[in-house]
Amino acid sequence: MRLSVRAGGPLRGRIRVPGDKSISHRALLLGAIAEGPTRVTNFSAAADCLATLACVQALGIEIERSGEGELVVRGRGLRGLRKPCQVLDCGGSATTMRLLAGILAGQPFSSVLTGNEQLRRRPMERVAEPLREMGATVLCREDGGLPPMTIYGGRLRGIDYALPVASAQLKSAILLAGLYAAGPTTVREPGPSRDHTERMLRARGVRLDLQEGGITLYPAGTLAALDVTVHGDLSSAAFLVAAACLMPDSELTIEAVDVNRTRTGFLEVLRTMGADIVIDEQPQQGGLWSCAKGANGEPLADISVRARGAGERPYLRGVEVGGELVPRMIDEFPILAVVATQAEGETVVRNAAELRVKESDRIAAIVAELRKLGAQIAERPDGFVVEGPTKLQGTTVDSRADHRLAMSLAVAGLVAGGETTVEGVECIGDSFPGFPETLERLTGSGHKSLQV
Ligand code: S3P
Repeated sequence: MRLSVRAGGPLRGRIRVPGDKSISHRALLLGAIAEGPTRVTNFSAAADCLATLACVQALGIEIERSGEGELVVRGRGLRGLRKPCQVLDCGGSATTMRLLAGILAGQPFSSVLTGNEQLRRRPMERVAEPLREMGATVLCREDGGLPPMTIYGGRLRGIDYALPVASAQLKSAILLAGLYAAGPTTVREPGPSRDHTERMLRARGVRLDLQEGGITLYPAGTLAALDVTVHGDLSSAAFLVAAACLMPDSELTIEAVDVNRTRTGFLEVLRTMGADIVIDEQPQQGGLWSCAKGANGEPLADISVRARGAGERPYLRGVEVGGELVPRMIDEFPILAVVATQAEGETVVRNAAELRVKESDRIAAIVAELRKLGAQIAERPDGFVVEGPTKLQGTTVDSRADHRLAMSLAVAGLVAGGETTVEGVECIGDSFPGFPETLERLTGSGHKSLQV
């Protein structure tokens, strides 16, 4: 499937984006092993989250759909999962595979995790190794630790583990296995990756101690029941925020977005580049978990963006991104590259080699595809360098079956001259079903700028 994009108008209005993907996964997985029902509101319909849902059902957990984006997960407790009688298919979702691997390591049965062709190329040894150290038997395909993964769960012991990369998926896998371990488990991180698992575990009554650069989990016999309202996904909102920064005269508000500090790096970088972005944090609404209970909840905000008027000089300037910012905006580098093509001066990204093992090699892919549009962008081993501003010219580009590449290239098409055709856009549904329609609605003043 292809998407044709023509230069669009300003983005105006107030909208919402789908529920956060990371939190939707965790609501299902922790709900499955908690005591009693977990009611989830604003669950993401992204294909990645539906893969987690199917895996959880294959492990014997009943899930009722009670309305649009509403689910009830009938948790059966830490020891209530059933041995699956099929291979667990994680689709294209590494979050599903890695977090589930942590839970399965603690089960008294064996299971096999696989995924689509893209996921079967992604590294799992990083998860397999600590789970083996905890006492599980984990087999991967090939020496490189590729899926399928076979996990023989068993009695686990707590470990003290220093992560080789700042990765929330890896951290979460070890913490979830730690729920089943004898003794505490400590995970040390080289940087601050998203902390949704920690917040949700604490809110379910698990003791977690945070020290400088490390977290210690004390296994609890049970996870308490908790209802979860999922706020909007900042990583989906990022494409619309970027488009609004780029299209003159835009005035856009995205309502009810999760603005957890471990995720807001891109907004900070855009502000440094000169963008006018207001984060209006909403008062906590009590009751449901995601509407926050002290430090264990998730902060919620409306995000407003205002762009300069048409005909004014480009107002964005280049920026340097590296170090601790990288894990706090790990999914936003392809769209940052697009924004950088329209900013004055040099944008340099470093310390981001992790981008090479995402749904695609995001460094090589965004560099090659943006060059086709005329961008001045060069690849570095751990990032890229963009020289701007450049007038992009529409042509045919390839999503590489990577949802964040596809949406970034569609936004590039809005600022490019002529028509930009993005090939392979089915993958957009992996995280943001409805993105093409949303972009069209916001940019088109009656005319059709996007065609699937
Ligand atoms: C995710 C963590 C990130 C991110 C992914 C979702 C999560 O991956 O890229 O889209 O939900 O934990 P890493 O933790 O491997 O960087």
